[in-house]
Amino acid sequence: MNKEIFAVYPGSFDPLTNGHLDIITRASKLFSKILIAVTDNCNKKHSFSLNERLELVQESTKNLENVKVVSFSGLLADYLEQINSFVLIRGLRAISDFEYEFQMTLMNRTLNKKIETIFLIPDQSYTFLSSSMIKEVAMLGGNMSGLVPKCVAEKLEEKFPKHINNEYTK
Ligand code: COA
Repeated sequence: MNKEIFAVYPGSFDPLTNGHLDIITRASKLFSKILIAVTDNCNKKHSFSLNERLELVQESTKNLENVKVVSFSGLLADYLEQINSFVLIRGLRAISDFEYEFQMTLMNRTLNKKIETIFLIPDQSYTFLSSSMIKEVAMLGGNMSGLVPKCVAEKLEEKFPKHINNEYTK
């Protein structure tokens, strides 16, 4: 383990999935401290508020001692300067993630040359997961087991009550 460096895992986490958790767990074994930075992605319309997303990530990672969760607004590059930390973690599920991640990495580097991004690949059983797909399945009453942490499954059920599914099938 590199004891000197702490790394930041930014994301919108709308909501956190077991795929994100897999990345967080892997990163927590590589770095002395992981800061999960929950924020808004201004290109997306989020279903959960920033505070709800923050709480779900906090609850889901409470057993990982070296993981801390915060939220921020504004540019990630500015936030990293503010906390004086320049190592980013991002997950790569498939080749299709690469282009977006590549652009984001280079934009962050252009905004602040000190930023380095490290990519981790989740377990293959999570490579198909995305937050949008989770919400779609939850909305239609699908089983969330094995896909998201328990607190996220409960929140999804609260947000998307199962009767929506029944209305579809009437
Ligand atoms: N397991 C499951 N899903 C994963 C995943 C994994 N390991 N890795 C990524 N994903 C999915 C997410 O579920 C999400 O799916 P969705 O598109 O259906 O919602 C998607 O991939 C990416 O989401 P996530 O990693 O949570 O965050 P994001 O791409 O929304 O994050 C920010 C982008 C927040 C880091 C970026 O917008 C940002 O930095 N914003 C701050 C403003 C800024 O600085 N902008 C300029 C950036 S260069």
